[in-house]
Amino acid sequence: MASLKTGKITSLFLTEIYIQKAFLSPRDTKSLQEECYQIRDSDAIGQRWSQKNYLGGYTSYASIPKVPLLSSSFLDLEKKIHTHVARFSDLLDYDLKPRQVYCNSLWINIMPPGVVHTGHIHPQSFISGTIYLSVPPKASSLKFEDPRLGFLMAAPLQKKKLKVEHQRFFQFAPQAGDLVLFESWLRHEVPANPAKKDRISVSFNYDWKSL
Ligand SMILES: [Fe+2]
Repeated sequence: MASLKTGKITSLFLTEIYIQKAFLSPRDTKSLQEECYQIRDSDAIGQRWSQKNYLGGYTSYASIPKVPLLSSSFLDLEKKIHTHVARFSDLLDYDLKPRQVYCNSLWINIMPPGVVHTGHIHPQSFISGTIYLSVPPKASSLKFEDPRLGFLMAAPLQKKKLKVEHQRFFQFAPQAGDLVLFESWLRHEVPANPAKKDRISVSFNYDWKSL
Protein backbone atom coordinates (compact mmCIF):
# COMPACT_ATOMS: atom_id res chain seq x y z
CA MET A 1 0.00 0.00 0.00
CA ALA A 2 1.27 3.48 -0.83
CA SER A 3 2.50 5.43 2.17
CA LEU A 4 0.04 8.18 3.10
CA LYS A 5 1.55 11.41 4.38
CA THR A 6 -0.32 13.11 7.19
CA GLY A 7 -1.33 16.69 6.50
CA LYS A 8 -0.45 16.32 2.78
CA ILE A 9 -2.49 15.53 -0.28
CA THR A 10 -2.30 12.00 -1.67
CA SER A 11 -3.06 11.78 -5.40
CA LEU A 12 -5.33 8.96 -6.56
CA PHE A 13 -6.90 7.94 -9.88
CA LEU A 14 -4.55 9.89 -12.09
CA THR A 15 -5.37 10.89 -15.66
CA GLU A 16 -2.17 10.51 -17.62
CA ILE A 17 -1.20 11.52 -21.13
CA TYR A 18 2.04 10.73 -22.97
CA ILE A 19 3.75 13.24 -25.25
CA GLN A 20 6.71 12.61 -27.54
CA LYS A 21 7.97 15.83 -29.07
CA ALA A 22 9.58 15.58 -32.53
CA PHE A 23 8.40 11.97 -32.94
CA LEU A 24 8.70 12.48 -36.72
CA SER A 25 11.46 14.31 -38.57
CA PRO A 26 10.45 17.36 -40.66
CA ARG A 27 11.19 15.29 -43.78
CA ASP A 28 8.88 12.41 -42.76
CA THR A 29 6.26 14.88 -41.62
CA LYS A 30 6.26 16.57 -45.01
CA SER A 31 6.11 13.39 -47.10
CA LEU A 32 3.28 11.93 -44.99
CA GLN A 33 1.47 15.24 -45.31
CA GLU A 34 1.66 15.00 -49.12
CA GLU A 35 0.43 11.42 -48.99
CA CYS A 36 -2.56 12.50 -46.87
CA TYR A 37 -3.66 14.84 -49.66
CA GLN A 38 -3.16 12.09 -52.29
CA ILE A 39 -5.30 9.67 -50.25
CA ARG A 40 -7.97 12.33 -49.73
CA ASP A 41 -8.09 13.18 -53.42
CA SER A 42 -8.54 9.52 -54.38
CA ASP A 43 -11.09 8.75 -51.64
CA ALA A 44 -14.48 9.78 -53.04
CA ILE A 45 -16.39 7.75 -50.42
CA GLY A 46 -14.47 9.41 -47.60
CA GLN A 47 -15.02 12.85 -49.09
CA ARG A 48 -18.77 12.22 -49.29
CA TRP A 49 -18.85 10.88 -45.71
CA SER A 50 -16.88 13.88 -44.48
CA GLN A 51 -19.25 16.31 -46.21
CA LYS A 52 -22.06 14.96 -44.02
CA ASN A 53 -20.18 14.18 -40.82
CA TYR A 54 -17.07 16.37 -40.68
CA LEU A 55 -18.25 19.64 -42.10
CA GLY A 56 -15.58 21.36 -44.22
CA GLY A 57 -12.92 18.78 -43.39
CA TYR A 58 -11.78 15.37 -44.53
CA THR A 59 -11.26 12.19 -42.52
CA SER A 60 -10.59 8.67 -43.75
CA TYR A 61 -12.09 7.29 -40.50
CA ALA A 62 -15.21 5.83 -42.16
CA SER A 63 -13.80 4.93 -45.58
CA ILE A 64 -10.18 3.89 -44.92
CA PRO A 65 -9.99 3.18 -41.19
CA LYS A 66 -6.65 1.32 -41.56
CA VAL A 67 -4.47 3.48 -43.81
CA PRO A 68 -1.36 1.26 -43.20
CA LEU A 69 -3.08 -1.44 -45.30
CA LEU A 70 -2.68 0.69 -48.41
CA SER A 71 0.52 2.61 -47.75
CA SER A 72 3.99 1.33 -46.81
CA SER A 73 4.96 4.67 -45.29
CA PHE A 74 1.92 4.55 -43.01
CA LEU A 75 2.80 0.93 -42.17
CA ASP A 76 6.26 2.14 -41.08
CA LEU A 77 4.55 4.86 -39.07
CA GLU A 78 2.36 2.29 -37.32
CA LYS A 79 5.44 0.24 -36.35
CA LYS A 80 7.04 3.34 -34.90
CA ILE A 81 3.93 4.21 -32.91
CA HIS A 82 3.70 0.65 -31.55
CA THR A 83 6.84 1.08 -29.40
CA HIS A 84 5.46 4.18 -27.72
CA VAL A 85 2.01 2.71 -27.14
CA ALA A 86 3.61 -0.40 -25.55
CA ARG A 87 5.70 1.89 -23.33
CA PHE A 88 2.72 4.00 -22.31
CA SER A 89 0.71 0.86 -21.52
CA ASP A 90 3.55 -0.36 -19.33
CA LEU A 91 3.84 3.00 -17.57
CA LEU A 92 0.11 2.79 -16.85
CA ASP A 93 0.77 -0.62 -15.19
CA TYR A 94 -1.31 -2.68 -17.60
CA ASP A 95 -0.24 -6.33 -17.68
CA LEU A 96 -0.78 -7.49 -21.26
CA LYS A 97 1.35 -10.65 -21.26
CA PRO A 98 1.09 -12.87 -23.24
CA ARG A 99 -0.80 -10.40 -25.39
CA GLN A 100 0.45 -7.20 -27.03
CA VAL A 101 -0.88 -3.81 -27.98
CA TYR A 102 -2.53 -3.93 -31.39
CA CYS A 103 -3.44 -1.07 -33.75
CA ASN A 104 -7.07 -1.58 -34.79
CA SER A 105 -7.43 1.68 -36.72
CA LEU A 106 -5.30 4.53 -38.02
CA TRP A 107 -6.79 7.31 -40.09
CA ILE A 108 -6.17 10.76 -41.57
CA ASN A 109 -7.73 14.07 -40.50
CA ILE A 110 -7.49 17.24 -42.58
CA MET A 111 -9.00 20.31 -40.88
CA PRO A 112 -9.13 23.43 -43.06
CA PRO A 113 -9.74 26.82 -41.36
CA GLY A 114 -12.90 26.88 -39.24
CA VAL A 115 -13.38 23.11 -39.02
CA VAL A 116 -14.24 21.70 -35.59
CA HIS A 117 -14.18 18.24 -34.05
CA THR A 118 -16.57 18.16 -31.10
CA GLY A 119 -16.03 16.33 -27.79
CA HIS A 120 -15.79 12.54 -28.00
CA ILE A 121 -14.13 9.40 -26.66
CA HIS A 122 -12.77 6.41 -28.61
CA PRO A 123 -14.74 3.24 -27.77
CA GLN A 124 -13.43 -0.28 -28.43
CA SER A 125 -9.82 0.57 -27.71
CA PHE A 126 -7.77 1.35 -24.59
CA ILE A 127 -5.07 3.70 -25.87
CA SER A 128 -5.62 6.31 -28.55
CA GLY A 129 -3.46 9.05 -29.90
CA THR A 130 -2.57 11.50 -32.61
CA ILE A 131 0.47 12.48 -34.63
CA TYR A 132 0.61 15.98 -36.07
CA LEU A 133 1.76 16.48 -39.65
CA SER A 134 0.82 20.11 -40.18
CA VAL A 135 0.18 22.66 -37.44
CA PRO A 136 0.09 26.13 -38.98
CA PRO A 137 0.37 29.25 -36.77
CA LYS A 138 -2.63 29.66 -34.41
CA ALA A 139 -4.00 26.19 -35.29
CA SER A 140 -6.30 24.57 -32.71
CA SER A 141 -4.94 22.72 -29.71
CA LEU A 142 -6.15 19.32 -28.56
CA LYS A 143 -8.44 20.00 -25.61
CA PHE A 144 -8.82 17.34 -22.90
CA GLU A 145 -11.68 17.36 -20.41
CA ASP A 146 -11.61 16.34 -16.74
CA PRO A 147 -13.41 12.95 -16.71
CA ARG A 148 -15.09 13.90 -13.40
CA LEU A 149 -16.76 16.97 -14.88
CA GLY A 150 -20.21 15.36 -14.87
CA PHE A 151 -19.91 14.55 -11.15
CA LEU A 152 -19.06 18.07 -9.96
CA MET A 153 -22.19 19.31 -8.23
CA ALA A 154 -21.60 22.01 -5.62
CA ALA A 155 -18.01 22.84 -6.55
CA PRO A 156 -17.05 26.52 -6.24
CA LEU A 157 -15.25 28.49 -8.93
CA GLN A 158 -11.55 27.78 -9.15
CA LYS A 159 -8.72 30.22 -8.46
CA LYS A 160 -7.40 32.21 -11.42
CA LYS A 161 -3.95 30.70 -10.86
CA LEU A 162 -4.12 26.97 -10.18
CA LYS A 163 -2.05 23.83 -10.54
CA VAL A 164 -2.21 22.28 -14.00
CA GLU A 165 -3.44 18.99 -12.49
CA HIS A 166 -6.42 20.81 -10.96
CA GLN A 167 -7.57 22.37 -14.24
CA ARG A 168 -10.90 21.13 -15.60
CA PHE A 169 -9.53 21.33 -19.14
CA PHE A 170 -6.03 20.94 -20.53
CA GLN A 171 -5.02 22.16 -23.97
CA PHE A 172 -2.09 20.49 -25.67
CA ALA A 173 -0.70 22.83 -28.34
CA PRO A 174 1.17 20.47 -30.71
CA GLN A 175 3.88 21.17 -33.24
CA ALA A 176 4.30 19.26 -36.48
CA GLY A 177 6.00 15.93 -35.77
CA ASP A 178 4.66 15.55 -32.21
CA LEU A 179 2.92 12.45 -30.87
CA VAL A 180 0.34 12.40 -28.07
CA LEU A 181 -1.15 9.30 -26.43
CA PHE A 182 -4.05 9.10 -23.96
CA GLU A 183 -6.40 6.49 -22.57
CA SER A 184 -9.34 6.03 -24.94
CA TRP A 185 -11.97 6.92 -22.31
CA LEU A 186 -10.56 10.45 -21.96
CA ARG A 187 -12.95 12.87 -23.59
CA HIS A 188 -11.36 15.42 -25.92
CA GLU A 189 -12.14 17.82 -28.73
CA VAL A 190 -10.50 20.03 -31.32
CA PRO A 191 -11.99 23.54 -31.21
CA ALA A 192 -12.64 25.35 -34.51
CA ASN A 193 -9.35 25.76 -36.35
CA PRO A 194 -8.58 29.53 -36.41
CA ALA A 195 -5.47 29.07 -38.61
CA LYS A 196 -5.34 30.20 -42.22
CA LYS A 197 -4.10 26.81 -43.43
CA ASP A 198 -4.99 23.13 -43.01
CA ARG A 199 -4.26 21.39 -39.73
CA ILE A 200 -3.33 17.78 -40.61
CA SER A 201 -3.08 14.87 -38.21
CA VAL A 202 -3.16 11.08 -38.07
CA SER A 203 -5.17 9.46 -35.29
CA PHE A 204 -5.19 5.85 -34.12
CA ASN A 205 -6.72 3.37 -31.69
CA TYR A 206 -4.99 0.47 -29.96
CA ASP A 207 -6.48 -2.53 -28.25
CA TRP A 208 -4.65 -5.68 -27.12
CA LYS A 209 -4.58 -9.24 -28.36
CA SER A 210 -2.36 -12.27 -29.06
CA LEU A 211 -0.31 -11.68 -32.20
FE1 LIG B 1 -10.40 11.77 -30.95
